[in-house]
Amino acid sequence: MELFRIEGGTPLGGEIRASGAKNATLPVMAAALLLDETLTIDNVPHLEDVTTTNVLFAHMGVTVTMLDNMALAVDASTITRPEAPYELVKTMRASILVLGPLLARHGYADVSLPGGCAIGTRPVDIHLAGLEAMGAEIKVEQGTIKARAHRLVGARFAMESVTVTGTENLMMAATLADGVTVLENAACEPEVADLARCLTAMGAEIEGAGTSTIRIRGQSRLTGARHRVQPDRIETGTFLTAAVATRGDITVAHTDPRLLEATTEKLAATGARVDAGNDWLRVDATGMRPQAINVRTAPYPRFATDMQAQFCVIAAIADGVSTITEAVFENRFMHAAELERMGALIRPEGNTLVITGQPQLTGAPVMATDLRASISLVIAGIAASGTTDVRRIYHIDRGYECIEEKLAQLGANIQRLPDSTPIGSAVTS
Ligand code: EPZ
Repeated sequence: MELFRIEGGTPLGGEIRASGAKNATLPVMAAALLLDETLTIDNVPHLEDVTTTNVLFAHMGVTVTMLDNMALAVDASTITRPEAPYELVKTMRASILVLGPLLARHGYADVSLPGGCAIGTRPVDIHLAGLEAMGAEIKVEQGTIKARAHRLVGARFAMESVTVTGTENLMMAATLADGVTVLENAACEPEVADLARCLTAMGAEIEGAGTSTIRIRGQSRLTGARHRVQPDRIETGTFLTAAVATRGDITVAHTDPRLLEATTEKLAATGARVDAGNDWLRVDATGMRPQAINVRTAPYPRFATDMQAQFCVIAAIADGVSTITEAVFENRFMHAAELERMGALIRPEGNTLVITGQPQLTGAPVMATDLRASISLVIAGIAASGTTDVRRIYHIDRGYECIEEKLAQLGANIQRLPDSTPIGSAVTS
């Protein structure tokens, strides 16, 4: 295992390029399973979760070819096993996204139940109920979802909770169903709309993607296509948050400001200067201590839960008392105890953290627990004085492409070292 060793106290400054969105890439890759032709995907980020998906596809007999500049060609005509075993699914919950396409295309699929993860129980009951509404026969045996359907039939289905992957799974399944499917209380996240654009390029008939009601008219088959994945709005927001936390000035290029307006509104509320162009965003917080902010997470277009941990770092050094409320997941505050080790003053009140800003955090050894918590500890280490070791950084590699290179490009003093490296070994830039 590895750690990041960070020498803090440096304001970050400069420009980086946003990568393709992890949470758009994963469903688009799953959409290739609807085809017996090739789906070519551009702007794919180089992430552990993409590698895991490639391993899962290889297990199924699906052919994945890496093209130049991180494009992928996925050919599911060679599939031999429409199944996703536990040893692969347990490392990436989003593997559940293969269930809908496999069932719709082949009439059967055996997919391991993803199980929970650090941030919550993460059930998939809505995914399964939606497929049953479309006529699937579903049994769960020894932790495996065994789904069967001669041919799915279009249905009207209202989802009890707003679930992004649930919406995506059912939308994909509906593209090959017999008749029209209407999904109500659907997730409005931009990644759902990006997937719908890809499915439409494949010949699907979809209306309302990106709104809470999506209507899909099933086809007998879909055809090969090419799709470019949209920029990662969470990666963009993460780097802009780092500008405020380190009192720096960062521009993120090749992104889409329209995808993260709730985030940029909150960044402006800290007192930082926020500028936007057609495909870039800049946050300038040079020399300023951020004002306290109040944040409550909710489904898109409101404030993203995936940005919550990062904003806790701003709150930890802000001038005043901030409140951070997590209203989507039941256990997404594991970064709080680690930030307290760095001097943050945090008082939990139910699903809210009341954070009293301190003038400065101090470096300390800390432990990463999940993807977004991990990156918040890296940002805190860069903002803090002294040295911070962040362990279990495999969490970060799942969702941030070339993270230490991008941070070093902005001036961070950060090194990836073996976990066994003794504390105090010199951090040489
Ligand atoms: C997607 O997860 C994202 N992952 C998550 O990003 C993100 O945090 C989340 O949406 C919310 O925006 C991908 O897109 C791959 P959920 P998703 O488990 O859709 C309830 C990251 O950091 N629910 O559906 O899988 C559930 O309990 C990751 O990139 C049910 O009750 O989220 C929760 O309260 C973390 N039954 C809510 O819905 C179900 O069948 C959303 O959770 C499904 C969900």
